[in-house]
Amino acid sequence: MKLSLDDLRIFGGPLAFDETQHVGRPNIGNRDRLLARLDDLLDRRWLTNNGPYVQEFEQRIADLVGVKHCIATSNATVALEIAARAAELSGEVIIPSFTFVATAHALQWIGITPVFCDVESEGPNIDPDAVEKAITPATSGILGVHVWGKPCGADRLGEIARRYGLRLLFDAAHAFGCSYRGRMIGSLGDAEVFSFHATKCVNAFEGGAIVTNDDGIAARAKLMRNFGFATYDVVTSLGINGKMTEICAAMGLTSLESMAQFTRINYDNYRQYRRELADLPGITVMAYDEGEQNNYHYVVIEIDELTTGLGRDAFHQILWEENVRARRYFYPGCHQLEPYRSLPRYADLSLPNTERLTARVLCLPSGSAVTPGIISEICQIIRLVATHGREIRERLSSGEFRTSRQLAANLTAVSGPSHA
Ligand SMILES: Cc1ncc(COP(=O)(O)O)c(C=O)c1O
Repeated sequence: MKLSLDDLRIFGGPLAFDETQHVGRPNIGNRDRLLARLDDLLDRRWLTNNGPYVQEFEQRIADLVGVKHCIATSNATVALEIAARAAELSGEVIIPSFTFVATAHALQWIGITPVFCDVESEGPNIDPDAVEKAITPATSGILGVHVWGKPCGADRLGEIARRYGLRLLFDAAHAFGCSYRGRMIGSLGDAEVFSFHATKCVNAFEGGAIVTNDDGIAARAKLMRNFGFATYDVVTSLGINGKMTEICAAMGLTSLESMAQFTRINYDNYRQYRRELADLPGITVMAYDEGEQNNYHYVVIEIDELTTGLGRDAFHQILWEENVRARRYFYPGCHQLEPYRSLPRYADLSLPNTERLTARVLCLPSGSAVTPGIISEICQIIRLVATHGREIRERLSSGEFRTSRQLAANLTAVSGPSHA
């Protein structure tokens, strides 16, 4: 337990955690069920190519979300590429910059220009007014992202898409099991994409899915996922290998069976973080709308440097020094990453709300691998740092630190001028 600054690792104290604490350490689920499924699929010798587990997984997802079609894929990035092609997007597609880089890369990879848009002032989702301003004659669609499972303004985006004759897709990588105005995410727009990556609430080791009520998108996506094969030797469209394997579907089915338990654990973790960091000036735990369904997978704090005296990057580094791999999702915003930042079209792009958010937020460890004791310890470190920000800065700038000079330099440099 860290009671004083001397207990912090940066000032020579002991490491808080021998075992690294990750954001998104995988949920495992019922091992016996998984191993039984593995035996089964080996006995069947049906390892991939739309096997029975993939079909069952797709049916379960479609039922849960309430859509006609689910097309399971090898991951969400490929699902986004396929969905964009199946929706016949071209030219420019408007997306938020505040997202995991896969949202942008999936478009760029297939020759579509991502047009980065700012988020709403309170974040974290795309601002419909900014979307409307970004529409040009080359725009073919809008790709919203439900960041951290918080639904973006689908109704306003739908209205804009209809008015301009655009397709509306959603990257719902974070939002499996979440709802928007009582409707399950996955049923919005023309199509949505889930991720079942190992770090997600429900995982298939790696995996993704396109969900849609649009028969045309579904039919094209099914073909494209399998090289464009319509029958054994008839290819009717361009395609790629985006198939989910049976072993991944076996994990996905097993994970789905424990979804309620994972969500409950996430919810308890989230409530504990909120309780233990409540009334801490300068630290806000991002709130979920408890009137909606959510997977509560992401616990995100926003740090106000004016109050704490230390910036987000200092908190980030101090936590890493304690073996807590808090993550700066989604720093620094896609428009500031390659290849986009070096392309002339993005050179002068300024997205103030995105840039403000990317400088202030930090994701904390949650999921079934995290215990209440671990959360308490993490909260205690955050409380200690948040209530001694200026003192920490002074001690570091006077040269007192355990680790390298570089760490102290980083901590002071990234924090900017003192606002004391
Ligand atoms: C918003 C978002 N979109 C897309 C992806 C890509 O998902 P995958 O790893 O399944 O390709 C991720 C991955 O975390 C993500 O966070």
